[in-house]
Amino acid sequence: MIQTAERLAQTREYYFSRKLKEVDHLKAIGKPIINLGVGSPDIQPPADVIKSMIAATADDKAHQYQPYAGIREFREGIRSFYASHYEVALDVDKEILPLMGSKEGIMHISMAFVNPGDEVLVPDPGYPTYAAVTRLVQAKPVNYDLKAKHDWQPDLDQLAALVTPRTKLMWINYPHMPTGANAKEEMIRSLIEFAKQHNILIVNDNPYSLILSDKPFSLLRFVDHNVQLLELNSLSKSFNMAGWRIGMLCGDEDLIKSVVQVKSNMDSGMFYPIQKGATAALAASSSWISELDEKYAHRRRLIWELCDQLGLSYDKNTSGLFVWARIKADIKAEELSDRLLHEHDMFVTPGTVFGDQGKAYMRFSLCVGSNQIRECLGRTKAFEV
Ligand SMILES: Cc1ncc(COP(=O)(O)O)c(C=O)c1O
Repeated sequence: MIQTAERLAQTREYYFSRKLKEVDHLKAIGKPIINLGVGSPDIQPPADVIKSMIAATADDKAHQYQPYAGIREFREGIRSFYASHYEVALDVDKEILPLMGSKEGIMHISMAFVNPGDEVLVPDPGYPTYAAVTRLVQAKPVNYDLKAKHDWQPDLDQLAALVTPRTKLMWINYPHMPTGANAKEEMIRSLIEFAKQHNILIVNDNPYSLILSDKPFSLLRFVDHNVQLLELNSLSKSFNMAGWRIGMLCGDEDLIKSVVQVKSNMDSGMFYPIQKGATAALAASSSWISELDEKYAHRRRLIWELCDQLGLSYDKNTSGLFVWARIKADIKAEELSDRLLHEHDMFVTPGTVFGDQGKAYMRFSLCVGSNQIRECLGRTKAFEV
């Protein structure tokens, strides 16, 4: 019997990796499951993306190893994207690192900056990968609470009480998943002061900034010369390219160099046609982006209707790909999720997946067509908790 590494002792297989096996099994035995659980966009990327990607496969260098820091043309595309959507000026050679999706960046950043025994501040509720990766690098995740009464912003008094000399890094994620909350400027300014005071690296994970958002948010807009910040970004949600695995890390030059030190030992560059397709995506017109938003806004209205029918309450002033809905009745989120799955053939993520603060919530994805959401409305007409 080969013993697994100690680092696995506190890490379970990712929730969706486990749960989707159950959902797939139900589908395989003929259940007409509608998956409202996962944020995997079902709409096509811009047409130019596919054309550029296909054309690039015929390029002489298409099938060779590619530069560790991505092709310059893609980094140029990222620079223009940050300038036009966020009003952030980045140095194309020093402050941008293309990634295979932002999820891998969470691991690379943790490996570059976090020692075993260090403490990492992670949001609760929040994307489970921050805590899982922290454990994989044998450090300690320390949850900070996000509460509806504080508009899902961190409470600086609580942060001050949680910080210790071992606190090394703080993950933030605005627009926030799963709640959809947007960052408040004054909170970000206080957080930057807090990071400066305690010498903590703040990283914003920013895959949802373009979805249902009037003014896309970037942490890098708040750059201050005395503090080093990083931001992960992704094409998965903004351009419907989740399966392509492409994203980016932007920010302080020295921090990026340390991440390259890790990443260049782990992969050997990204497939050239993917980078060419991604470059085309980043240049998508504002009309393409607003048409996509209209589709999501329409679906979101139907999901709100579904929530009303299921007796759940929600905030309408949110961004991103999900509706985060509060359970009013006396039923646990996981029990409600199981009942919807087994009695009505629909999968909705229980809020517990995102931490203790999610106990009374359900997360609905907008990556499902309107007809399917209407079908869910029909199926649950007589639903009573
Ligand atoms: C908050 C958050 N960060 C990161 C990711 C991963 O994105 P990517 O596809 O770029 O790895 C997700 C995906 O669901 C997410 O919700």
